[in-house]
Amino acid sequence: MSIPAAPSAEAGHFGRMDKIYRRQRYIYDFTRKYYLVGRDSLIKNLAQEPGARLVEIGCGTGRNLIAIARTYPHARLYGLDASAQMLETAQAQLARAGLAGRVTLVHGLAEDLRPSAFGEDRFDHALFSYSLSMIPDWRQALVASANALSAKGRIHIVDFGDLQTLPGKSLLRAWLALFHVTPRTELLKSLEALSAEGFRLFPGRYAFQFSAAKGKMGSLPCGPTDTGRD
Ligand SMILES: C[S@@+](CC[C@H](N)C(=O)[O-])C[C@H]1O[C@@H](n2cnc3c(N)ncnc32)[C@H](O)[C@@H]1O
Repeated sequence: MSIPAAPSAEAGHFGRMDKIYRRQRYIYDFTRKYYLVGRDSLIKNLAQEPGARLVEIGCGTGRNLIAIARTYPHARLYGLDASAQMLETAQAQLARAGLAGRVTLVHGLAEDLRPSAFGEDRFDHALFSYSLSMIPDWRQALVASANALSAKGRIHIVDFGDLQTLPGKSLLRAWLALFHVTPRTELLKSLEALSAEGFRLFPGRYAFQFSAAKGKMGSLPCGPTDTGRD
C-alpha cells in the first residue's frame, strides 16, 4: 500500500478536504453509517469477476474497500482520495482489518485519475460513493474514470439525489453545503432520462444508485462523444 504525496498537497482542494476531514475522520464511519444510504447494496451487486481491478474514487476512510475486499476476495483493489488525512485513516483501518497488502492507496484528484499512478494500465470497475457530490469538476472525474476503464469496464455511482420530495430538504441542503457537498442534480436528471437498467432512486429522492458499462453511458458526461467540459 502506498500513498505518494500529490504536488502542492496543502493548496486548493487538497487543503479544503483535509480541513473538513482532519477531525471528522475519527467519527466518520460511525456518523455516516445511517445517512450515506445505498453503499452496501451497491457493493453486494458489483458482480465482480475474479481478478477484476476496481478503483474507488474518493475512497475516504476505506470502509467500502474493506467491505469489497471481504465480499470479493479475488478482486484487485485501489483507492484514490484528495485528502491525505482520510488516506491515513484508510491505511490504518485496512491494516486493522488484516487487508494491508490488498489495497493500493494513492493521494490525488479524481479529475486527474490515471491507472499508471497505481501501476496498472486499466481498471475494470470505477466506484464513486458519495464523492461526485464533493468533486468540483465531477464531469471531468467521470470522463477520467471512463478513460481509465477497459473496453468492458463499468462505472458504479451512489450519491445524494436532488432531495426534491424529502421533508426538511432545505435544512439538509444547507447542512450538506457546510461539508462542500452539492447534490449533482444535473447528473441525476440525465440518469433518469437514460432510464437505464441499474438505476435506482431512494424514497424522497434522497439518494440514487447507478451501475452501467461505460459504453452504455450514452449522452452522459462520460459518454463516448463527450469531452466532459462545459
Ligand atoms: C463523503 S466522502 C465519501 C467517502 C467514501 N467513498 C464513503 O462512501 O464513505 C467523499 C470523499 O471524496 C474525497 N474527495 C473529494 N473531492 C475529491 C477529488 N476531487 N478527488 C479525489 N477525492 C475527492 C474526499 O476527500 C472524501 O474522502
